[in-house]
Amino acid sequence: MKSLLDFNDLSDIEWNHLLSLARQIKQSPADFATLCRGKVMATLFYEPSTRTQFSFQTAMQRLGGTIIGFSDPNSTSVSKGETLIDTTKIVSAYADIIAMRHPVEGAPYAASLFAPIPVINAGDGGHLHPTQTLTDLYTISDLKGTLTGLNIGICGDLKNGRTVHSLLKAFMRFPGNEFYLISHPDLAVPQYVLKLLDRAGVHYRQITSLDECIAKLDVLYMTRVQRERFASLAEYERLAGCYTLDMAKMNVAKKDLAVLHPLPKIDEIAYEVDSDPRALYFTQAKNGMYIRMALIATLLDSYEPSVMPQNEFPDRVCHNPRCITRHETYLPQLIRQGKTAAYCRYCEHETDDKQ
Ligand code: NCD
Repeated sequence: MKSLLDFNDLSDIEWNHLLSLARQIKQSPADFATLCRGKVMATLFYEPSTRTQFSFQTAMQRLGGTIIGFSDPNSTSVSKGETLIDTTKIVSAYADIIAMRHPVEGAPYAASLFAPIPVINAGDGGHLHPTQTLTDLYTISDLKGTLTGLNIGICGDLKNGRTVHSLLKAFMRFPGNEFYLISHPDLAVPQYVLKLLDRAGVHYRQITSLDECIAKLDVLYMTRVQRERFASLAEYERLAGCYTLDMAKMNVAKKDLAVLHPLPKIDEIAYEVDSDPRALYFTQAKNGMYIRMALIATLLDSYEPSVMPQNEFPDRVCHNPRCITRHETYLPQLIRQGKTAAYCRYCEHETDDKQ
């Protein structure tokens, strides 16, 4: 298996393997307690996290491995100006696998091109969060017994929420679902994600009211407004608090609705909802540890190194200001031809022929 940067890097066989391994681990964790003995995982977290970082760390420890890493790059040589690639190369000499979270889009992809060990994308800016997607799909599949034929509401900050982009992209592989994308118009799903959904024939409606669809939903995926991705606090405050899931809304929902949330939640779910049996976000967070155990064990067992791809357009550059190539300018541009446009391989933004 290759480094995990995007859920869609996985073949169907690999995804089904991870799902069944996570189920086995959840059922009898003791059987897997020494699987990764002697192995070291580095968690390189350039951006704050509790859940994801702890779940990677406990996942490795529960497999018998050990961990090194940082959660505050200011306490490392990064603060002296060390490049991402140098840090990656050094850590690769010490560890067997890297989990990287970074505020800039495409950073884990860049690291994977230079590391001789597997790199897991633990969230890159507003781009993707594939291990949260593994967690979400595993949880939905366990609760509903299927990943097709569902009415799925996704509510909140659909513009900046990388868990949302990752999940929607992953669902392109599981047809027959109806999506209700519930957000303020200023926080709608980015055009590049909608284009992908259109091309894959995914059915979705963009709406602004949760009341309008809640009674139809099988799954409701709530998300917080991502304060750290706003240019100003005033702009955040204008859009925060748009949606709150409370018992009045839950009372009109299906008896078997599954309410999910990648967490942390702020004020988008009323406290009273936590004790409703349909609130399944804490189960979801626990599942995240089991699926990460399955992922780490599989990558350590069957890793195939990445090969540096060809740049198909030597005369173009990526213009996305949030792309890693704009921050670590020594990185080679890597533009590839997609079905209808050319894309940056790091951040997936479309490029054009303007310089
Ligand atoms: C999410 C993230 O970091 O993108 N959290 C997580 O991984 N558990 C969601 C969020 O921060 O809102």
